[in-house]
Amino acid sequence: MSKFSRREFLKLGGAGAVTAGTATMAGGCLAPPEDALAVQPGGTTLDYPITTVANANKLAINKPVSFTYPDKASPCMLVRIGHAVPGGVGPGKDIVAYSTLCTHMGCPVSYDADSRNFKCPCHFSVFDSEKTGQMVTGQATENLPRILLSHDAATGDIKAVGVDGLIYGRQANTI
Ligand code: FES
Repeated sequence: MSKFSRREFLKLGGAGAVTAGTATMAGGCLAPPEDALAVQPGGTTLDYPITTVANANKLAINKPVSFTYPDKASPCMLVRIGHAVPGGVGPGKDIVAYSTLCTHMGCPVSYDADSRNFKCPCHFSVFDSEKTGQMVTGQATENLPRILLSHDAATGDIKAVGVDGLIYGRQANTI
């Protein structure tokens, strides 16, 4: 003779399923682990280098400066826009920098001083330097990765300290 009735057994099984299934959301989708929510595109557990890439006192307005960051295989460009922009650093909050690898297929983008946009010659994606690298048009679906900068008011040094966004072709920005 069974200790539980069929009805009692099903009740217990159902409770167990609820207990074991706390990570299951309505509709049967698995909820992401909590720590996965903290991982951003391009995120890494490795520290970013802190690299001096320019000096605010010597930057001409709208004349881009090339550098590499966070390593020599990652071309970037810094530009002093001439008026304050989101994410801008320096005395005028107008200095920004971006990876120059197009987020579509990795072609090198170039800076167009007239429009202050970065333009890709391969499939004509356009990214706005005044709006944190926002994709304006073209084949790309992601903004240009923004190089995070700091400004030393005493010396004028502009330092690269991190990257917001995943550099094309990488699984993590620091490798
Ligand atoms: S590689 Fe830049 S738009 Fe395709």
